[in-house]
Amino acid sequence: MIELLPWSSDDLWAVERFLSDPEMMKHLGGPQSREQVVDQHARYLNTAASGTGQMFKIVLSPASDAIGNIGYWDKTWREELVYETGWMVLPEHQGRGYASAALRLLVEWLRNDHVHRFLHAFPAVTNGPSNALCRGAGFTNLGEFEFEYPVGHPLRCNDWRLDLSVQQRASSP
Ligand SMILES: CC(C)(COP(=O)(O)OP(=O)(O)OC[C@H]1O[C@@H](n2cnc3c(N)ncnc32)[C@H](O)[C@@H]1OP(=O)(O)O)[C@@H](O)C(=O)NCCC(=O)NCCS
Repeated sequence: MIELLPWSSDDLWAVERFLSDPEMMKHLGGPQSREQVVDQHARYLNTAASGTGQMFKIVLSPASDAIGNIGYWDKTWREELVYETGWMVLPEHQGRGYASAALRLLVEWLRNDHVHRFLHAFPAVTNGPSNALCRGAGFTNLGEFEFEYPVGHPLRCNDWRLDLSVQQRASSP
């Protein structure tokens, strides 16, 4: 069973493992430098502090070490304020439904308490597991678009959207 716990200052090692792993980062512009890792960790912490979202670590209850992360944050998208979400699960824990379970928890949390109506996810079109995750959680694919992530790396992404104001039934696994 998994739980979502708020990202904390002790979790730098986890973001370092995520972002420096070439396999984890193959759909995200490749591995990042130590400086980028530290910067990303600070942004994860700042998301909650600034009240614009929340990054969580995914833990296997009752342990408290991160096996992955998931979060949401404000984003202006096509001139509308929406939430964006993103996720990662460490390679040795992948393929066991943990990201799907984490997304279910996040959506449940946001359905109960949200300011914006829509939650978007923008996985690369080549990111099979992330696109499957969106489909399984009941998101609608609004189509492909060209993006830059990180800066300087063109990325073709899907625009998946979930309406938080509508109770939807996720497709069965
Ligand atoms: C995306 C990621 C978080 C998925 O984690 P996970 O815990 O292995 O995911 P799950 O076990 O919950 O499986 C998710 C879905 O992906 C599917 N899947 C797994 N590998 C797949 C593949 N190679 N191609 C297509 N679908 C695949 C699973 O079957 C499942 O779909 P289903 O529920 O319809 O059967 C993990 O692969 C990851 O961390 N990737 C690197 C980081 C990344 O790309 N993050 C996304 C940024 S948007």
